[in-house]
Amino acid sequence: MEILGIDIGGTGIKGAIVNIETGALVSEKHRIPTPKGAMPSDVADEVASLVEHFNWKGKVGCGFPAIVSHGKVLSASNIHQSWKGLQADHLFSQRTGLEFKIVNDADAAGLAAMTYGAGKGQNGTVLMITIGTGLGSGLFHNGVLIPNIELGTIPYKNYKYYETYASDAARKREDLSYKKWGKRFNKFLKFVVLVTSPDLIILGGGASKKIDKFKDQLTVNVRVLPSEFENEAGIVGAAINAK
Ligand code: BGC
Repeated sequence: MEILGIDIGGTGIKGAIVNIETGALVSEKHRIPTPKGAMPSDVADEVASLVEHFNWKGKVGCGFPAIVSHGKVLSASNIHQSWKGLQADHLFSQRTGLEFKIVNDADAAGLAAMTYGAGKGQNGTVLMITIGTGLGSGLFHNGVLIPNIELGTIPYKNYKYYETYASDAARKREDLSYKKWGKRFNKFLKFVVLVTSPDLIILGGGASKKIDKFKDQLTVNVRVLPSEFENEAGIVGAAINAK
């Protein structure tokens, strides 16, 4: 079965057709920059142009960078505030005429890793952390997702959130070396280990590809693996979630 997977992020909206039996992309990936301000109507327009690009007529699974419950967006840390309370699945369905299933982006990345990647067959507690514009988190126990665990948006010292201090966007914004940023990220990992006691941490998002540049800074006493999907996990997981 094939499903169009879309991953809406702070800087880009990416999509591809996914074979959900194998987790493989069966089309080229297509990326559109996230419109400035990430207003709902502008994002919906870009989602519609992705659907048109693939000439897609079936179900769509979509990862979204916020808390999402029953298709409704409940937070807005890296997107326009007017998303809060909005039924995103209805918005996208009205715009495209297709059925949409929306899931938090880090939960989607975790679903991909647990089904086809580093988390496959892992019992106990597995924590997916995505490093990008924000810090996303997806928590699994014995393979079951506990949705919308938000660890990156816990307040941290003078920074608004942990993600304001230790996301990839923070590294770029403050022009930090990987060593300096890695120490910050390690503080975040120590915090998440304290609150979730994971058996395994999987890192996803764009920055996880650079793990060799910061792995020496990580001191947590838990196995930390990069997601084998690199930056495609969000697309694949969103498609799996829409099955
Ligand atoms: C949001 C999370 C999201 C993460 C990664 C955070 O700002 O609150 O829901 O998973 O960014 O996009």
